[in-house]
Amino acid sequence: MNEPTATHGGRVNVLTTPDVIDTIAGLRATLAEAGERDSGGRPRLVLVPTMGALHAGHLALVRRARELGDIVVVSIFVNPLQFGAGEDLSTYPRTLGEDVAALATVGVDVVFAPTRQVMYPHGPGSTRVTAGNVGTLYEGAARPGHFDGMLTVVCKLINIVGPDVVVFGQKDAQQVFLVEAMLADLDFRPVIEVVPIVREEGGLALSSRNRNLVEEQRAAARALSAGLAAAASVAGRGAAAAEEAARALIDAQPLVKLDYLVVVDPQTFLPVAADHHGPARMLVAALVGSTRLIDNAALDLN
Ligand code: PAF
Repeated sequence: MNEPTATHGGRVNVLTTPDVIDTIAGLRATLAEAGERDSGGRPRLVLVPTMGALHAGHLALVRRARELGDIVVVSIFVNPLQFGAGEDLSTYPRTLGEDVAALATVGVDVVFAPTRQVMYPHGPGSTRVTAGNVGTLYEGAARPGHFDGMLTVVCKLINIVGPDVVVFGQKDAQQVFLVEAMLADLDFRPVIEVVPIVREEGGLALSSRNRNLVEEQRAAARALSAGLAAAASVAGRGAAAAEEAARALIDAQPLVKLDYLVVVDPQTFLPVAADHHGPARMLVAALVGSTRLIDNAALDLN
C-alpha cells in the first residue's frame, strides 16, 4: 500500500495511486497489514464494487465511501455470471489503466482487479445466490439470470474483502433492492450505502454504456430522464397519470425503444396498485440503438 499522504476523519488515509491487487491472498494480506498499521483501532473498511469503465457516477460512490471509512477498496471485475447469452460481455469496456488513474484522484486505497481465473478458478461453479421473484421482473425479465449472477459475485466480493460498508448507486434501483434484501435475509455484516444518481447536463443518467451512444442517440436518450421528470411533476395525480406523462415523452423519440416503464412500491418492488398513495419509484428501460439504458426516479403518489 502507498505511504500515507493525508489524514481523514482523524485517521491516516492514502490519496496517491492506489495499490492494484489481483489475487485474493494479496488483497487480504494488504488489508491485514493496513489494519495493523492503523493505531486508531480496527479501521472501517468500505467496498465499492464496480465493473470498471468508470465515470463520474462511480467517482461519486468513491467520494461517499471516502467519507464513510478509513480504507476504501474499489473492485473492478466484469462478472461473466451476470451476462446472458448474446449480451455485451465480450465488448463490455475494459479500461483498467484509465480507471486506476481516475481513482487516484479521489483517494482510493486499494483496487481489487481479479481475473476471471481468480474469481472462478473452476469455471462458474454451481452455487448461486438466487434473487427470488423480484429478480425475475423488469431487468430480470429482460436478462434472465442476471440478478442471480450479480448477487453471487457481490456475495463473493463481500466475503473476500470483509467490508463494514458496501456502496451502490441508485441508478441500478432493482440491484440496490436485491442487494439490500440479500444483506438482510442472509444476515450479512456490512451495511449498504446508496448514492444518488449522477446525471450529465441534459439529464441522461451516467452509465458505462453511454460511451456506445452516438450523438444523435445520446440526445434521444435524454427522453428517459425527461419522462421521469414529467412523471414526478404529475405524481400527485396518481400512478396512471405519472406513467402517461413519461410515456408521452419517451414514445415521441423514434430512436428510443421502450422495454418497460413501471411504478413500483419501494417496500416490495412490485408494481403499485392503481390507488397507491405515498412513496413509489418509477423504473424505465429502453434500447437506444443496441445500447440498453435504465433509469429511475422517486415519485410521491398522493
Ligand atoms: O453494478 C455493477 O457494476 C455490478 O452489477 C456489480 C455490483 C459490480 C456486480 O458485478
